[in-house]
Amino acid sequence: MKILYATSEARPFAASGGLADVAGSLPKALKSRRIACRVVMPLYAGISEEIRNRMKYITNFDVPVAWRNQYCGLFSINMDNVIYYFIDNEYYFKRDSLYGYYDDAERFSFFSRAVIEMIRHTNWTPDVIHCNDWQTALTPVFLNCFYRHEEIFSNIKTVFTVHNLQYQGQYGYAVLDEVVGINRENHNILDYNLCVNFVKGAMQCCDMITTVSPTYAKEICTPWFSHSLDRFLLDNQYKLAGILNGIDYQEYNPAKDKDIAVNFTSEDFSGKSECKKALLKDFGLDSNAGAPVVGIVSRLVSHKGIDLVRSAFDQIIAEGFKVIILGTGDSEYEHFFADMALRYPFSVAATIGFIPAAAKKIYAGADIFLMPSKSEPCGLAQMISLRYGTIPVVRETGGLADSVFDCSKGQGNGLTFQSYTPEEMMNALHRAKAIYNDKENWKKLVRYAMECDYSWNTSATEYIKMYKSL
Ligand code: GLC
Repeated sequence: MKILYATSEARPFAASGGLADVAGSLPKALKSRRIACRVVMPLYAGISEEIRNRMKYITNFDVPVAWRNQYCGLFSINMDNVIYYFIDNEYYFKRDSLYGYYDDAERFSFFSRAVIEMIRHTNWTPDVIHCNDWQTALTPVFLNCFYRHEEIFSNIKTVFTVHNLQYQGQYGYAVLDEVVGINRENHNILDYNLCVNFVKGAMQCCDMITTVSPTYAKEICTPWFSHSLDRFLLDNQYKLAGILNGIDYQEYNPAKDKDIAVNFTSEDFSGKSECKKALLKDFGLDSNAGAPVVGIVSRLVSHKGIDLVRSAFDQIIAEGFKVIILGTGDSEYEHFFADMALRYPFSVAATIGFIPAAAKKIYAGADIFLMPSKSEPCGLAQMISLRYGTIPVVRETGGLADSVFDCSKGQGNGLTFQSYTPEEMMNALHRAKAIYNDKENWKKLVRYAMECDYSWNTSATEYIKMYKSL
């Protein structure tokens, strides 16, 4: 079975969010289970010189973008036993950021079509093309509109994974003739709610729609979570499934991690208190106090539940928690946390930035990890914090509801709450603090959290089952 995994980002090459983690670890997990999985992504300017020097040039060819043809170079690299292909076009990808440009529709229309065209040049025809989010959403559309009559393309199946339904690739009708270039009789594929919608097109044309947790798969069929696609998803529920993401257990391993002060395991996690001391010191807080430390590593945007944290913040501090925040996002939240660090210099530290090594120090050194998301397709941070024995306090939504279970309702690995209110969040934090103060119970909880398995073990097997069912 051959899978071509098409993505706009993948670690360690280019990353802006959780998709890069998944694209950097699922293919490896599939490969180690004897599924031939290769990855294709754009060759961005930000990819390091060191990695570029290891790439092999394969060929170049033309890719149609509506009425014109554009140059496309093809490179590859073998990393951790997985082959990664890179689509090169400096006009589209030699830019400072991955996304956020006026011509994103054109850039990723080009990429989505290059994913198909490259198959003519690789001597390797996949059984399945697995697309992810709006950036590769046009691949299943192009495949059906332009390529099915050719033998090599006639049997390829397509899977489309939604990592976050908020981003749908919505544009005005002008892109149909200028960028996408499909025939008039096919325009209805992309037409939705009076605009062009790439994600709706992918979901219509693909063989299977997946999303990144079973709960989110149910949630997106309801108006509150669907960003207006619930009716369409209900009609297509027969081909919709939720498969929980895993995390890379080699990358996130407290026993071997070089970014943390002291390594530790679930059998002996005495090193964790050293990590806490080092964390407090690194972030300029008093490292001798016994107060519970709440860590937040997040994009600072509304759907992450930052409003709840903001409205309960004074109370959190008044009740004796210390808070360490790492993240970037909307400026109002960035300013808020920077202000709080000034207002409470002994209890709060905020770093506005995206620094993977600092994130690991928080995962390892905090006692509690707070993730009160309004919606969360899967969420990886709660799984990483579990692995490092930091107890998650989360709202029961999406992947959070599928990975964190409240310890007051039987065997659990964290604390959860349902309603999106500061009171409910505080209630969960209180319950966490009560257990924290009972040292023996807390140790049991930490050990159990560390022993939960959120590697790709189960999920990679589910993906394989799904591919085989197509
Ligand atoms: C998106 C989602 C996040 C998910 C990640 C990987 O970033 O917001 O919940 O974990 O994709 O699938």
